[in-house]
Amino acid sequence: MKRLLVTGGAGFIGSNFVHHWMNNFPDDRLIILDALTYAGNIQNLDGIKNDHGLTFVHGNILDLDLVERLFEDQNIDTIVHFAAESHVDRSILGPDEFIRTNIVGTHTLLKAAKNCWLDKGTGIPHRFHHVSTDEVYGSLLPDDPAFLETTPYAPNSPYAASKASSDHLVRAYHETYGLEVTTSNCSNNYGPYQFPEKLIPLCIANILDGKPLPIYGDGKQIRDWLYVEDHNRGVRVILKEGRPGETYNIGGLNEWKNIDIVRLICKLIDEKLKRNDSYLRRFPKTPVSKGESSETLITHVADRAGHDRRYAIDPGKISSELGFSPETTFESGVRKTIDWYFDNEAWWRSIMDKSYLDWVNKNYREKGETD
Ligand code: NAD
Ligand code: DAU
Repeated sequence: MKRLLVTGGAGFIGSNFVHHWMNNFPDDRLIILDALTYAGNIQNLDGIKNDHGLTFVHGNILDLDLVERLFEDQNIDTIVHFAAESHVDRSILGPDEFIRTNIVGTHTLLKAAKNCWLDKGTGIPHRFHHVSTDEVYGSLLPDDPAFLETTPYAPNSPYAASKASSDHLVRAYHETYGLEVTTSNCSNNYGPYQFPEKLIPLCIANILDGKPLPIYGDGKQIRDWLYVEDHNRGVRVILKEGRPGETYNIGGLNEWKNIDIVRLICKLIDEKLKRNDSYLRRFPKTPVSKGESSETLITHVADRAGHDRRYAIDPGKISSELGFSPETTFESGVRKTIDWYFDNEAWWRSIMDKSYLDWVNKNYREKGETD
């Protein structure tokens, strides 16, 4: 039986990881450490079947005493570190929290791991898995090859720079102290429980409320999208089979321009609404309920500062070494995601009421259709 400390386990990817892990390894023990920032939601952990194996701790990764106490009291042998400030736009508006959580917070966990696993010599075979992002590699030109694990780091946003710093610290604790670490750098995730400030859930929620779909700049920026369950299967194979000290890129070989994704979401939602009259009654503000297409909501707004043009992951290493490949195609993943947001309206409404979504409207001046 493994005893995992999952940081950020009430956030989007972390909570999906907890569901995934408990479904696959019901005898393991999971201790979730989450500060429940605006992005964390305890409801994301509802419905976990084996909740006897779960402990939720409301606390901050910056709290060294708390983290060391958890290590000792709970005999932790594995850390899966998801906790972070994760939204690029917020990092542009206010980088300080990103420095604190993503850099100092990761360092606090590393210190605790070193103190408890190495210095006090508990003898527990251990693993520190750090969940990172492809944004550390910077931006690609249209014909550049996809990011490899050896691609030099060139982060462009405060968020990406904070994640890059944390990756370097994780590497240094392996090289200097011998901590058994692995790192994964993943591409854009989507799926259930994603906070509706990120592109895909924001568009779904806004279509259902008949609100504008803000496209930054020309909308031709490219991201490489992966269904969250596939990301977590990737983390799982690294935890089980990955070599300490190694980093693994996780991606879906699935590059899309933002504007094309938004059009796909419009099409799939319009089809779904037209198939069922009760949806039209439930979502009377949707363009479809007025006989229009959701694409009429597309609104080009000012571009994100320092906006990376293209990301693409080369997943060759995790594929050849660990046999990993994504299972969910993009269209089926987007359909599943749309269905989830239809079925969980109360979840996203309660979040959006208290969220900063007005910030989008305040900070991004509409500049009219340019595409
Ligand atoms: P998220 O913003 O949805 O969730 C972050 C979680 O961390 C929340 O539950 C929040 O409460 C918690 N948290 C934040 N600060 C904390 C602190 N100081 N102490 C304890 N808990 C804290 O993020 P996400 O999208 O699920 O991303 C999870 C991880 O995956 C991050 O490290 C992110 O950099 C990485 N990542 C995300 C994506 C993506 O597309 N979302 C892709 C690649 C990598
Ligand atoms: O690549 C991995 C990264 O993906 C993760 O490390 C980050 O945590 C995660 O937030 C995500 O970053 P992005 O900035 O790529 O995701 P976001 O959903 O914010 O934006 C996706 C693209 O869509 C990006 O090019 C910006 C654009 N966009 C986004 C929003 C929210 C818009 O055009 N309009 C919007 O309203």
